[in-house]
Amino acid sequence: MSGWSSPHLLGMRGLAREAIEAVLELAARRRPHAEAQAPPLGLLAGRTVANLFFEPSTRTRTSFTLAARRLGAEVIDYAVAAGSTVKGESTVDTARNIVAMGVDALVVRSAHAGTPVLLARHVDAAILNAGDGAHEHPTQALLDLFTLREIFGEVRGLQVLIVGDIGASRVARSNLWALRTMGAEVTLCGPPTLVPRAFEALGARVAHRLEPELERADAVMLLRIQHERHRAGAIPSVREYARLFGMTAERAARLRPGAIIMHPGPIHRGVELMPEVADGERSVVLRQARNGVAIRMAVLELCLEARRRG
Ligand code: NCD
Repeated sequence: MSGWSSPHLLGMRGLAREAIEAVLELAARRRPHAEAQAPPLGLLAGRTVANLFFEPSTRTRTSFTLAARRLGAEVIDYAVAAGSTVKGESTVDTARNIVAMGVDALVVRSAHAGTPVLLARHVDAAILNAGDGAHEHPTQALLDLFTLREIFGEVRGLQVLIVGDIGASRVARSNLWALRTMGAEVTLCGPPTLVPRAFEALGARVAHRLEPELERADAVMLLRIQHERHRAGAIPSVREYARLFGMTAERAARLRPGAIIMHPGPIHRGVELMPEVADGERSVVLRQARNGVAIRMAVLELCLEARRRG
């Protein structure tokens, strides 16, 4: 388990290449056990993982739950709508009370950037960031790296084109850090209102037209418009967006042979990704979802092992 030393996974920014390698290697080894048919491993027997989700989630929550169970851990779900947060309790207090009942790891999703960092400072548990505002979503970036490596063998040197609402996307930010650390070239594409030039300072190319980018990409990652993070009227017309930036069959046909289509979900079919491309042969979206279980097994194991060692 060399390469990984932290009891927390808070973000991809600043995470060393060796730490990322440790996750990817362990995920590859856990992969057979991520399948439902395999008997659960007892590696986390006696440990308890709590899901603390203050925003909706399908893939992330489900795969963290499956990952923990397939390692033999117990899993509890904190139902935000029924909990004391709605009565005015602070997130730190809620987390401390749950941990006081004998919880070892908290999987946290929050609308506020920085919540996982805050909890890591004030709560005695392993903290795994499952998405904080528009800031980071590290396990998504890790499962995307895993998927790219599975398909291309090597992430270094790949041309990755990320198209969408980059400014409001934690998936884009985590992927940018992760892909740059692993040696891929990243181009961020979308209208200027959604893709600020400031991203160039973080090591990305920025492009405001999709057509010229299609031929050079090995992987195109489509992201939805994050309506919940915009004030009404702040985003371009959805129809106009689909016309200029939507991945149609015609655009997909102009990609290189072997180029793949990725999407973290949830897909807005007919907007950023047309149904025939989402379900077409270049699409790896279900493979991404499946790889999420192995990645989350790896990070739970690495963080809890680091915590045990102190
Ligand atoms: C993403 C998220 O929640 O950040 N979804 C996911 O975890 N697969 C992307 C999104 O909501 O658009």
